[in-house]
Amino acid sequence: MSSPLHAVSIEDLRLAAKQKLPRCIFDFFDGGAEDEITLKANRQSFHNTLLLPRILRGVESIDTSADILGHRCSLPLAIAPTGALGFGKHGADIALARAAADRDLIYTLSSSATTSIEQIARQAPGRHWFQAYILKNKDFFYSLIDRAHAAEYEGLMITVDLPVGGKRERDNKNQFAIPFKLNPRVAFDFMSHPLWLSQMLANGIPVLENMLGLDGQKRGINNLASSVGRNYDPSFNWDDLKRIRDYWHKKLIIKGVMHPEDALRLVEMGCDAIVVSNHGGRQLDTAISTLRALPDIVKAVDRKVPVLLDGGIRRGSDILKAIALGADGVMTGRATLFGAVVQGENGASHALNILKEELIRTMQLCGASEINQITADLILKHEHSK
Ligand SMILES: Cc1cc2nc3c(=O)[nH]c(=O)nc-3n(C[C@H](O)[C@H](O)[C@H](O)COP(=O)(O)O)c2cc1C
Repeated sequence: MSSPLHAVSIEDLRLAAKQKLPRCIFDFFDGGAEDEITLKANRQSFHNTLLLPRILRGVESIDTSADILGHRCSLPLAIAPTGALGFGKHGADIALARAAADRDLIYTLSSSATTSIEQIARQAPGRHWFQAYILKNKDFFYSLIDRAHAAEYEGLMITVDLPVGGKRERDNKNQFAIPFKLNPRVAFDFMSHPLWLSQMLANGIPVLENMLGLDGQKRGINNLASSVGRNYDPSFNWDDLKRIRDYWHKKLIIKGVMHPEDALRLVEMGCDAIVVSNHGGRQLDTAISTLRALPDIVKAVDRKVPVLLDGGIRRGSDILKAIALGADGVMTGRATLFGAVVQGENGASHALNILKEELIRTMQLCGASEINQITADLILKHEHSK
Protein backbone atom coordinates (compact mmCIF):
# COMPACT_ATOMS: atom_id res chain seq x y z
CA MET A 1 0.00 0.00 0.00
CA SER A 2 1.64 3.29 -1.09
CA SER A 3 -0.02 5.68 1.34
CA PRO A 4 -2.23 4.98 4.32
CA LEU A 5 -4.60 7.57 2.92
CA HIS A 6 -5.37 5.03 0.22
CA ALA A 7 -6.41 2.62 2.96
CA VAL A 8 -10.00 1.65 2.34
CA SER A 9 -10.47 -0.16 5.64
CA ILE A 10 -9.13 -0.16 9.18
CA GLU A 11 -7.41 -3.45 8.33
CA ASP A 12 -5.45 -1.60 5.62
CA LEU A 13 -4.28 0.90 8.25
CA ARG A 14 -3.28 -1.98 10.49
CA LEU A 15 -1.20 -3.48 7.68
CA ALA A 16 0.41 -0.11 6.99
CA ALA A 17 1.36 0.10 10.69
CA LYS A 18 2.77 -3.40 10.52
CA GLN A 19 4.91 -2.43 7.56
CA LYS A 20 6.15 0.78 9.11
CA LEU A 21 6.92 -0.20 12.69
CA PRO A 22 9.54 -2.47 14.23
CA ARG A 23 7.91 -5.78 14.94
CA CYS A 24 8.18 -5.41 18.70
CA ILE A 25 6.34 -2.06 18.62
CA PHE A 26 3.65 -3.29 16.23
CA ASP A 27 3.11 -6.41 18.34
CA PHE A 28 2.84 -4.28 21.48
CA PHE A 29 -0.01 -2.33 19.85
CA ASP A 30 -1.65 -5.23 18.04
CA GLY A 31 -1.30 -8.08 20.50
CA GLY A 32 -3.35 -9.49 23.34
CA ALA A 33 -2.83 -11.69 26.38
CA GLU A 34 -1.75 -15.35 26.33
CA ASP A 35 -3.47 -17.26 23.48
CA GLU A 36 -5.31 -14.13 22.33
CA ILE A 37 -8.66 -15.93 22.59
CA THR A 38 -10.40 -12.81 23.88
CA LEU A 39 -8.67 -10.57 21.35
CA LYS A 40 -10.10 -12.73 18.57
CA ALA A 41 -13.47 -13.22 20.32
CA ASN A 42 -14.05 -9.47 20.33
CA ARG A 43 -13.96 -9.52 16.51
CA GLN A 44 -15.67 -12.87 16.16
CA SER A 45 -18.75 -11.67 18.03
CA PHE A 46 -19.22 -8.88 15.50
CA HIS A 47 -18.84 -11.40 12.68
CA ASN A 48 -21.41 -13.70 14.29
CA THR A 49 -23.92 -10.92 14.79
CA LEU A 50 -26.04 -10.78 11.68
CA LEU A 51 -28.12 -7.85 10.53
CA LEU A 52 -31.81 -7.98 9.70
CA PRO A 53 -32.22 -4.86 7.54
CA ARG A 54 -35.39 -2.81 7.07
CA ILE A 55 -36.40 -1.35 3.70
CA LEU A 56 -38.23 1.58 2.10
CA ARG A 57 -37.63 4.03 4.89
CA GLY A 58 -36.20 6.95 2.94
CA VAL A 59 -32.53 7.06 3.84
CA GLU A 60 -31.22 9.87 1.66
CA SER A 61 -30.01 11.92 4.60
CA ILE A 62 -28.33 10.34 7.60
CA ASP A 63 -27.57 11.93 10.97
CA THR A 64 -24.81 10.09 12.84
CA SER A 65 -24.67 12.51 15.77
CA ALA A 66 -25.32 11.23 19.29
CA ASP A 67 -25.28 12.38 22.90
CA ILE A 68 -22.51 11.09 25.11
CA LEU A 69 -22.83 12.24 28.71
CA GLY A 70 -24.91 15.23 27.75
CA HIS A 71 -22.80 16.50 24.85
CA ARG A 72 -23.55 16.18 21.18
CA CYS A 73 -20.85 14.25 19.30
CA SER A 74 -20.69 13.89 15.51
CA LEU A 75 -20.54 10.10 15.94
CA PRO A 76 -21.59 7.73 18.73
CA LEU A 77 -17.89 7.20 19.35
CA ALA A 78 -15.16 8.35 21.72
CA ILE A 79 -11.43 7.68 21.62
CA ALA A 80 -10.29 5.05 24.14
CA PRO A 81 -7.11 5.64 26.15
CA THR A 82 -4.00 4.03 24.66
CA GLY A 83 -0.65 4.37 26.34
CA ALA A 84 2.81 4.58 24.77
CA LEU A 85 1.50 5.83 21.41
CA GLY A 86 4.59 7.99 20.87
CA PHE A 87 6.67 4.84 20.43
CA GLY A 88 4.80 4.41 17.14
CA LYS A 89 5.05 8.01 15.98
CA HIS A 90 6.27 11.19 17.56
CA GLY A 91 3.30 13.35 18.65
CA ALA A 92 0.70 10.64 17.94
CA ASP A 93 -1.31 11.47 21.09
CA ILE A 94 -1.75 15.10 20.05
CA ALA A 95 -2.49 14.07 16.47
CA LEU A 96 -5.24 11.74 17.61
CA ALA A 97 -6.69 14.27 20.05
CA ARG A 98 -6.82 16.90 17.27
CA ALA A 99 -8.52 14.53 14.84
CA ALA A 100 -11.12 13.81 17.54
CA ALA A 101 -11.63 17.49 18.38
CA ASP A 102 -12.17 18.29 14.69
CA ARG A 103 -15.20 16.02 14.76
CA ASP A 104 -16.55 16.97 18.20
CA LEU A 105 -15.52 13.63 19.60
CA ILE A 106 -14.28 12.98 23.12
CA TYR A 107 -10.61 12.08 23.41
CA THR A 108 -9.42 10.08 26.42
CA LEU A 109 -5.82 10.63 27.46
CA SER A 110 -4.14 7.61 29.01
CA SER A 111 -2.19 8.04 32.22
CA SER A 112 0.52 6.05 30.35
CA ALA A 113 0.48 8.47 27.42
CA THR A 114 3.61 9.95 25.92
CA THR A 115 2.05 13.42 26.15
CA SER A 116 1.19 15.23 29.35
CA ILE A 117 -2.25 16.19 30.61
CA GLU A 118 -1.41 19.87 30.10
CA GLN A 119 0.11 19.46 26.63
CA ILE A 120 -3.08 17.85 25.34
CA ALA A 121 -5.21 20.60 26.86
CA ARG A 122 -3.00 23.29 25.26
CA GLN A 123 -2.17 21.74 21.91
CA ALA A 124 -5.37 19.87 21.10
CA PRO A 125 -8.21 21.89 22.64
CA GLY A 126 -11.42 19.91 22.71
CA ARG A 127 -13.43 17.62 24.94
CA HIS A 128 -11.13 15.47 27.04
CA TRP A 129 -11.41 12.71 29.57
CA PHE A 130 -8.41 11.62 31.60
CA GLN A 131 -7.89 7.91 32.25
CA ALA A 132 -6.18 6.83 35.42
CA TYR A 133 -4.89 3.52 36.62
CA ILE A 134 -4.88 2.99 40.34
CA LEU A 135 -1.37 3.54 41.62
CA LYS A 136 0.03 2.37 44.91
CA ASN A 137 1.32 5.89 45.50
CA LYS A 138 -2.00 7.57 46.32
CA ASP A 139 -0.55 11.08 46.65
CA PHE A 140 0.76 10.83 43.11
CA PHE A 141 -2.52 9.34 41.89
CA TYR A 142 -4.58 12.18 43.38
CA SER A 143 -2.11 14.74 42.03
CA LEU A 144 -2.85 13.41 38.52
CA ILE A 145 -6.56 13.85 39.14
CA ASP A 146 -5.96 17.39 40.38
CA ARG A 147 -3.97 18.17 37.24
CA ALA A 148 -6.77 16.84 35.04
CA HIS A 149 -9.23 19.00 36.96
CA ALA A 150 -7.01 22.09 36.63
CA ALA A 151 -6.65 21.46 32.88
CA GLU A 152 -10.46 21.32 32.63
CA TYR A 153 -10.85 17.71 31.59
CA GLU A 154 -14.57 16.93 31.54
CA GLY A 155 -14.36 13.39 32.80
CA LEU A 156 -12.22 11.04 34.82
CA MET A 157 -12.06 7.46 33.61
CA ILE A 158 -10.93 4.83 36.08
CA THR A 159 -9.75 1.61 34.49
CA VAL A 160 -10.59 -1.29 36.78
CA ASP A 161 -9.48 -4.33 34.81
CA LEU A 162 -5.80 -4.00 35.49
CA PRO A 163 -5.01 -4.90 39.10
CA VAL A 164 -1.97 -6.59 37.54
CA GLY A 165 -0.71 -6.58 33.98
CA GLY A 166 -1.92 -9.27 31.56
CA LYS A 167 0.55 -11.83 30.25
CA ARG A 168 1.36 -10.50 26.80
CA GLU A 169 3.43 -13.20 25.23
CA ARG A 170 4.24 -11.37 22.01
CA ASP A 171 6.11 -8.83 24.15
CA ASN A 172 7.90 -11.60 26.02
CA LYS A 173 8.93 -13.33 22.80
CA ASN A 174 10.10 -10.07 21.25
CA GLN A 175 11.98 -9.25 24.47
CA PHE A 176 10.15 -5.94 24.38
CA ALA A 177 9.81 -3.70 27.39
CA ILE A 178 9.40 -0.01 28.07
CA PRO A 179 12.00 1.22 28.85
CA PHE A 180 13.65 -0.41 25.87
CA LYS A 181 16.20 -2.92 26.92
CA LEU A 182 18.58 -2.92 24.02
CA ASN A 183 19.58 -6.44 23.12
CA PRO A 184 20.68 -7.80 19.74
CA ARG A 185 17.15 -8.86 18.80
CA VAL A 186 15.54 -5.50 19.56
CA ALA A 187 18.46 -3.58 18.00
CA PHE A 188 18.13 -5.59 14.77
CA ASP A 189 14.38 -4.99 14.75
CA PHE A 190 14.90 -1.23 15.12
CA MET A 191 17.64 -1.07 12.49
CA SER A 192 15.45 -2.92 10.01
CA HIS A 193 13.07 0.06 10.16
CA PRO A 194 15.36 3.01 9.38
CA LEU A 195 12.59 5.55 8.80
CA TRP A 196 11.02 4.82 12.17
CA LEU A 197 14.47 4.78 13.80
CA SER A 198 15.52 8.12 12.32
CA GLN A 199 12.30 9.69 13.55
CA MET A 200 12.93 8.30 17.06
CA LEU A 201 16.51 9.53 17.07
CA ALA A 202 15.47 12.98 15.79
CA ASN A 203 12.76 13.49 18.42
CA GLY A 204 14.18 11.57 21.34
CA ILE A 205 12.86 8.43 22.92
CA PRO A 206 9.36 9.13 24.25
CA VAL A 207 8.60 9.28 27.92
CA LEU A 208 5.38 8.41 29.74
CA GLU A 209 5.02 12.09 30.58
CA ASN A 210 2.33 11.80 33.25
CA MET A 211 4.35 9.32 35.25
CA LEU A 212 7.40 11.54 35.57
CA GLY A 213 8.10 12.08 39.22
CA LEU A 214 6.39 8.87 40.31
CA ASP A 215 8.67 7.24 42.83
CA GLY A 216 11.69 9.05 41.50
CA GLN A 217 11.07 8.47 37.79
CA LYS A 218 12.97 10.93 35.71
CA ARG A 219 13.48 11.70 32.07
CA GLY A 220 16.10 9.45 30.60
CA ILE A 221 16.49 6.02 29.22
CA ASN A 222 16.77 4.22 32.51
CA ASN A 223 13.65 5.74 33.91
CA LEU A 224 11.34 5.51 31.01
CA ALA A 225 8.24 4.84 32.76
CA SER A 226 6.69 1.55 32.05
CA SER A 227 8.11 0.35 35.26
CA VAL A 228 4.75 1.97 36.10
CA GLY A 229 3.38 -1.57 35.85
CA ARG A 230 5.05 -2.24 39.15
CA ASN A 231 3.17 0.66 40.65
CA TYR A 232 -0.38 -0.54 40.03
CA ASP A 233 -2.31 -1.28 43.18
CA PRO A 234 -3.86 -4.77 43.24
CA SER A 235 -5.51 -4.04 46.59
CA PHE A 236 -7.83 -1.44 45.01
CA ASN A 237 -11.46 -2.14 45.96
CA TRP A 238 -14.97 -0.69 46.13
CA ASP A 239 -14.17 1.51 49.14
CA ASP A 240 -11.24 3.07 47.27
CA LEU A 241 -13.48 3.74 44.29
CA LYS A 242 -16.03 5.38 46.58
CA ARG A 243 -13.29 7.73 47.81
CA ILE A 244 -12.52 8.69 44.23
CA ARG A 245 -16.23 9.26 43.57
CA ASP A 246 -16.39 11.59 46.57
CA TYR A 247 -13.23 13.44 45.48
CA TRP A 248 -13.99 13.98 41.77
CA HIS A 249 -17.17 15.97 41.23
CA LYS A 250 -17.26 15.94 37.47
CA LYS A 251 -18.17 12.94 35.28
CA LEU A 252 -16.76 9.64 36.50
CA ILE A 253 -16.53 6.87 33.92
CA ILE A 254 -15.58 3.31 34.89
CA LYS A 255 -13.84 1.24 32.22
CA GLY A 256 -13.35 -2.50 32.25
CA VAL A 257 -16.78 -3.65 33.41
CA MET A 258 -17.83 -7.13 32.25
CA HIS A 259 -20.25 -8.42 34.91
CA PRO A 260 -23.85 -7.11 35.20
CA GLU A 261 -23.77 -7.18 39.01
CA ASP A 262 -20.67 -4.96 39.03
CA ALA A 263 -22.35 -2.62 36.56
CA LEU A 264 -25.39 -2.31 38.83
CA ARG A 265 -23.24 -1.61 41.88
CA LEU A 266 -21.38 1.11 39.98
CA VAL A 267 -24.67 2.78 39.10
CA GLU A 268 -25.77 2.62 42.73
CA MET A 269 -22.46 4.17 43.79
CA GLY A 270 -23.14 7.17 41.56
CA CYS A 271 -20.79 6.56 38.66
CA ASP A 272 -21.79 8.48 35.54
CA ALA A 273 -21.00 6.00 32.76
CA ILE A 274 -19.77 2.48 32.23
CA VAL A 275 -17.44 1.14 29.58
CA VAL A 276 -17.92 -2.53 28.81
CA SER A 277 -14.33 -3.45 28.04
CA ASN A 278 -11.89 -6.33 28.34
CA HIS A 279 -8.96 -4.02 27.56
CA GLY A 280 -8.98 -5.10 23.92
CA GLY A 281 -8.11 -8.67 24.95
CA ARG A 282 -4.87 -7.54 26.60
CA GLN A 283 -5.71 -8.55 30.17
CA LEU A 284 -7.70 -11.68 31.08
CA ASP A 285 -7.51 -14.16 28.24
CA THR A 286 -10.64 -16.26 27.63
CA ALA A 287 -12.81 -13.50 29.13
CA ILE A 288 -15.95 -13.19 27.02
CA SER A 289 -16.15 -10.72 24.19
CA THR A 290 -17.52 -7.30 24.99
CA LEU A 291 -20.38 -7.54 22.48
CA ARG A 292 -21.51 -10.73 24.17
CA ALA A 293 -21.28 -9.18 27.64
CA LEU A 294 -23.17 -6.05 26.56
CA PRO A 295 -26.87 -7.09 26.60
CA ASP A 296 -26.85 -8.33 30.22
CA ILE A 297 -25.07 -5.19 31.37
CA VAL A 298 -27.50 -2.96 29.48
CA LYS A 299 -30.36 -4.82 31.16
CA ALA A 300 -28.83 -4.44 34.62
CA VAL A 301 -28.09 -0.73 34.14
CA ASP A 302 -31.62 -0.14 32.85
CA ARG A 303 -30.76 3.19 31.12
CA LYS A 304 -29.78 4.85 34.43
CA VAL A 305 -26.35 5.76 33.02
CA PRO A 306 -24.83 5.56 29.53
CA VAL A 307 -23.13 2.32 28.58
CA LEU A 308 -20.22 2.44 26.12
CA LEU A 309 -18.47 -0.55 24.59
CA ASP A 310 -14.96 -1.06 23.28
CA GLY A 311 -13.06 -4.04 21.90
CA GLY A 312 -12.84 -5.01 18.26
CA ILE A 313 -14.49 -1.99 16.64
CA ARG A 314 -13.08 -2.04 13.09
CA ARG A 315 -16.13 -1.39 10.92
CA GLY A 316 -18.98 1.09 10.85
CA SER A 317 -21.31 -1.91 11.05
CA ASP A 318 -19.68 -2.83 14.39
CA ILE A 319 -20.81 0.52 15.78
CA LEU A 320 -24.35 -0.09 14.56
CA LYS A 321 -24.41 -3.58 16.08
CA ALA A 322 -23.21 -2.35 19.48
CA ILE A 323 -25.89 0.35 19.50
CA ALA A 324 -28.59 -2.07 18.36
CA LEU A 325 -27.68 -4.27 21.32
CA GLY A 326 -28.09 -1.37 23.73
CA ALA A 327 -24.83 0.59 23.86
CA ASP A 328 -25.03 4.39 23.85
CA GLY A 329 -21.78 4.54 21.91
CA VAL A 330 -18.45 2.85 21.34
CA MET A 331 -14.81 3.63 21.98
CA THR A 332 -11.98 2.90 19.55
CA GLY A 333 -8.55 1.74 20.65
CA ARG A 334 -6.50 0.19 17.88
CA ALA A 335 -8.67 1.39 14.95
CA THR A 336 -7.71 5.03 15.51
CA LEU A 337 -4.31 4.16 17.01
CA PHE A 338 -3.19 2.53 13.74
CA GLY A 339 -4.14 5.65 11.79
CA ALA A 340 -2.30 7.93 14.22
CA VAL A 341 0.94 5.94 14.30
CA VAL A 342 1.01 5.55 10.53
CA GLN A 343 0.34 9.15 9.55
CA GLY A 344 -0.34 11.35 12.57
CA GLU A 345 -3.41 13.58 12.43
CA ASN A 346 -4.17 12.75 8.78
CA GLY A 347 -4.01 9.04 9.56
CA ALA A 348 -6.24 9.35 12.63
CA SER A 349 -8.71 11.47 10.62
CA HIS A 350 -8.63 8.90 7.87
CA ALA A 351 -9.50 6.12 10.33
CA LEU A 352 -12.43 8.17 11.65
CA ASN A 353 -13.57 8.95 8.09
CA ILE A 354 -13.55 5.25 7.22
CA LEU A 355 -15.64 4.39 10.28
CA LYS A 356 -18.05 7.26 9.64
CA GLU A 357 -18.51 6.46 5.97
CA GLU A 358 -19.11 2.79 6.79
CA LEU A 359 -21.56 3.67 9.56
CA ILE A 360 -23.56 5.93 7.23
CA ARG A 361 -23.70 3.27 4.53
CA THR A 362 -24.71 0.56 7.04
CA MET A 363 -27.42 2.81 8.48
CA GLN A 364 -28.75 3.44 4.97
CA LEU A 365 -28.74 -0.24 4.12
CA CYS A 366 -30.51 -1.03 7.41
CA GLY A 367 -33.11 1.71 7.04
CA ALA A 368 -32.01 3.85 10.00
CA SER A 369 -31.65 7.60 9.38
CA GLU A 370 -30.70 8.56 12.94
CA ILE A 371 -28.82 6.86 15.74
CA ASN A 372 -31.99 6.45 17.79
CA GLN A 373 -33.51 4.46 14.91
CA ILE A 374 -30.83 1.79 15.41
CA THR A 375 -32.88 -0.70 17.36
CA ALA A 376 -32.67 -4.33 18.49
CA ASP A 377 -34.93 -5.53 15.68
CA LEU A 378 -32.04 -4.93 13.25
CA ILE A 379 -30.17 -7.89 14.76
CA LEU A 380 -30.99 -11.52 14.06
CA LYS A 381 -31.92 -12.91 17.49
CA HIS A 382 -29.69 -15.42 19.25
CA GLU A 383 -26.82 -15.09 16.78
CA HIS A 384 -25.09 -12.46 18.86
CA SER A 385 -24.74 -14.77 21.85
CA LYS A 386 -22.06 -16.85 20.12
C1 LIG B 1 -1.46 -0.17 22.68
C2 LIG B 1 -2.60 -0.07 23.64
C3 LIG B 1 -2.45 0.65 24.81
C4 LIG B 1 -3.51 0.75 25.71
N1 LIG B 1 -3.36 1.53 26.84
C5 LIG B 1 -4.40 1.67 27.68
C6 LIG B 1 -4.29 2.53 28.79
O1 LIG B 1 -3.27 3.17 29.01
N2 LIG B 1 -5.36 2.63 29.62
C7 LIG B 1 -6.54 1.94 29.40
O2 LIG B 1 -7.48 2.06 30.18
N3 LIG B 1 -6.66 1.12 28.35
C8 LIG B 1 -5.63 0.99 27.47
N4 LIG B 1 -5.77 0.19 26.38
C9 LIG B 1 -7.07 -0.46 26.10
C10 LIG B 1 -7.96 0.47 25.26
O3 LIG B 1 -8.35 1.60 25.98
C11 LIG B 1 -9.21 -0.24 24.77
O4 LIG B 1 -9.89 -0.81 25.87
C12 LIG B 1 -8.94 -1.32 23.74
O5 LIG B 1 -7.90 -0.94 22.88
C13 LIG B 1 -10.21 -1.59 22.94
O6 LIG B 1 -10.03 -2.59 22.00
P1 LIG B 1 -9.69 -2.30 20.46
O7 LIG B 1 -8.23 -1.93 20.41
O8 LIG B 1 -9.97 -3.59 19.79
O9 LIG B 1 -10.56 -1.16 19.99
C14 LIG B 1 -4.72 0.08 25.46
C15 LIG B 1 -4.87 -0.65 24.28
C16 LIG B 1 -3.83 -0.73 23.36
C17 LIG B 1 -4.03 -1.49 22.10
